[in-house]
Amino acid sequence: MTGPTEMQIWSSLPVPAILIDEYEKIAEMNPAAEGFFNNSAKWLTGQPIWDRLAVDAPLEESLQRAREHGTPLFVNDVDVGTGARPPLVCNLQFAPMQGREGWMIMLISPRELAGRMTQSHSVKSAAKSAIGMAEMLAHEIKNPLAGITGAAQLLSMSLPKGDLEFTDLIVAETRRIVKLLEQVEQFGNLSPPEQRPVNIHDVLDRARRSALLGFGGHMKIIEDYDPSLPMALGDPDQLLQVVLNLIKNASEAADPKTGGTIRLHTFYEHSFRLRRADGSGQTLPLQIEIIDDGPGLPEDIKGDIFDPFVSGKENGTGLGLALVSKIISDHGGWISVDSVPGRTLFRISLPRAPRPAAIEETE
Ligand SMILES: Nc1ncnc2c1ncn2[C@@H]1O[C@H](COP(=O)(O)OP(=O)(O)OP(=O)(O)O)[C@@H](O)[C@H]1O
Ligand SMILES: [Mg+2]
Repeated sequence: MTGPTEMQIWSSLPVPAILIDEYEKIAEMNPAAEGFFNNSAKWLTGQPIWDRLAVDAPLEESLQRAREHGTPLFVNDVDVGTGARPPLVCNLQFAPMQGREGWMIMLISPRELAGRMTQSHSVKSAAKSAIGMAEMLAHEIKNPLAGITGAAQLLSMSLPKGDLEFTDLIVAETRRIVKLLEQVEQFGNLSPPEQRPVNIHDVLDRARRSALLGFGGHMKIIEDYDPSLPMALGDPDQLLQVVLNLIKNASEAADPKTGGTIRLHTFYEHSFRLRRADGSGQTLPLQIEIIDDGPGLPEDIKGDIFDPFVSGKENGTGLGLALVSKIISDHGGWISVDSVPGRTLFRISLPRAPRPAAIEETE
């Protein structure tokens, strides 16, 4: 029996493998890579690799060095997008190909989902009806609560000083309930987004400034913007609400004494395309990341944080992220989270505003 041919070995490799020529074009790929791209090798061969593969890391320089010195290059934990689906966190390995100057072989290993979480979300209908129910209740409870507060305040006028703490407690606690109810009602009052061209950096700036003056006073907020980012299509007020909620969560997760750092990161990912269940697709090239260096999501609620009333905080309503998720899904956008202790990243992907010019660019 003869040994397997190189072709057989290549085809049997379980990881996506791609040969890149000296011009950074795809020279060949194995079947696992075709699966990864969701496209055929025949179609992809000859195309510039970095047109088809979006890697969230500055690779060029190190790759150039590896190529010149004939050394391998390993890049771990980077987001790799193909346009066929949301990006996956992968490890990339590059090795110079023997006998072909300037050629590289690239292996892509998606990191297992176990032990980490990359969760994406659209509002589920069960959550919607839970909110509908809560809204109705909220409305019903607010009136009697106003009565209770009023009565407690009247009572406090005729009470001896030492007993005032009881009426104060009634007033404070009813206020807390009213606040919760108002948040619930916010859901119901949320009108469909009035989408128009929005400068995302303006939204982030507004959120940043108001956070630093209030709940985020103990935080350092770093702006890491792509200045060439085009306008997004969205409702600026609703997007502001989204960013505020995310910054608020990050601020609340940080140590109140030592504070923490939040990075607001924007970039363009040309190939980020959302395939919906109904088969329609949309590109969501504007990426906004809110990254904090806090303790990370609590293990026990990690999978459910976008659901209403899921909270890891003593006084949390668990509505912040539910609202975020609703707004983003109303925008036709996408939100995902990735969290380990020391690094929690929320990423929002949004559509871009149509170009004002009459001439449509073809992509
Ligand atoms: N950046 C983060 N770091 C750590 N945990 C987080 C972060 N963001 C969210 N969480 C966790 O997810 C939970 C749900 O967040 P969500 O904003 O929905 O509700 P909440 O903050 O508890 O209440 P509310 O927003 O109504 O005040 C939080 O209670 C917290 O445990
Ligand atoms: Mg919150």
